[in-house]
Amino acid sequence: MSTGDAVHDAPTGDSSNSDGSSRRYFLIQATSVVGAAGAVGAAWPFVSYWSPSEKAKALGAPVKIDLSKLAPGEMLSPIVAWRGKPVFVVRRDAETLASLETDTEMLADPDSEVAEQQPDFAVNAWRSERKEYGIFLGVCTHLGCSPKYVVTDNFVETGQGGFFCPCHGSRFDMAGRVVKGVPAPSNLEVPPYRFESDTVVLIG
Ligand code: FES
Repeated sequence: MSTGDAVHDAPTGDSSNSDGSSRRYFLIQATSVVGAAGAVGAAWPFVSYWSPSEKAKALGAPVKIDLSKLAPGEMLSPIVAWRGKPVFVVRRDAETLASLETDTEMLADPDSEVAEQQPDFAVNAWRSERKEYGIFLGVCTHLGCSPKYVVTDNFVETGQGGFFCPCHGSRFDMAGRVVKGVPAPSNLEVPPYRFESDTVVLIG
């Protein structure tokens, strides 16, 4: 296992809502390690992933990902690392996409007005180049914990999923947009990327 590519778990913590309710979350944790080719192949049942050399990655080389087997509602797992940071890739279904356009009242920056947090192509309701796929750095904008993917009920108001940071309770929607009144000051960062085909994306 290559420690240089490790994508670490977020610190464990109470995943209940800040109101103390014991809502059950369905979490997909960032538990995996992107390492030697053999290990990657053995632990990669759903998607293909090609990794550049260790030296190239240290310099921030792009990372290519095949999304062809990522189903609606899923987040890519194991988590891919780019420049030492976890990259969350989610495939959003039609209901989620509709919610991203209309359920914005609880968001601090629904229109992605903080320019540093995304490339220009991601200044839209989905914060992405293609509506279906959301791609974000899995680093909380408060103090850098890795949020957890919550498939459903991250938001009482809509029942939609999103990302929950267990360190201090920040929540983000399925476009990585931060909720008002939580410690995180801004939306999750969208890395630079481009699609090489309908299902192959190059991060970086
Ligand atoms: S690091 Fe995420 S809420 Fe503090």
